[in-house]
Amino acid sequence: MRLRVTIAVATITAAAGLLAPGLGARQAAISEIEFDALMKELRLTLGDVEQHIDSRYWPETADDGDRLAAMFEQVQAFWDARDVEEAAKLAAAGITASGALSLAASRNELDGTREALSEIRGTCGPCHQSYREETDDGYRIKPR
Ligand code: HEC
Repeated sequence: MRLRVTIAVATITAAAGLLAPGLGARQAAISEIEFDALMKELRLTLGDVEQHIDSRYWPETADDGDRLAAMFEQVQAFWDARDVEEAAKLAAAGITASGALSLAASRNELDGTREALSEIRGTCGPCHQSYREETDDGYRIKPR
């Protein structure tokens, strides 16, 4: 139990470190444990985006878009390293939509931000459908 907590903390720290710097730079692919932490961070950030849009907090929404783009870059690098082209393409669509979110937010465009958010959300389902598998205690990457 204690070991689990330690691993979880180490993972989050590692993921946070990976997400912070190097926007735009192609980084080395992350591990499966880091990928899981990244997914959880992705889900949390989408919740932030929704609240920020609803509150018309445009600078915060633009920041969310930048953070999401950096996360999707990690996702893309992960699948690129595994030669899973379809998954990498979905991640690339996430990068594009995250850029659109930041742009629309910087222009205070309500509809534009909502549209970009729904495009970002549109990447989750197809990838999970094809590459995620449910287990007794959660989910894992579908073995190929
Ligand atoms: C390119 C593929 C891909 C994309 C895009 C993707 N995911 Fe995932 N996601 C996975 C895989 C594979 C897993 C299973 C492995 C794991 O849990 O680490 C997963 C697991 C998760 C998990 C942890 C398990 C769970 O369901 O509780 C969350 C949360 C999650 N994804 C959220 C998201 C959200 C939100 C989006 C869209 C904004 C998204 N993911 C987009 C591939 C992807």
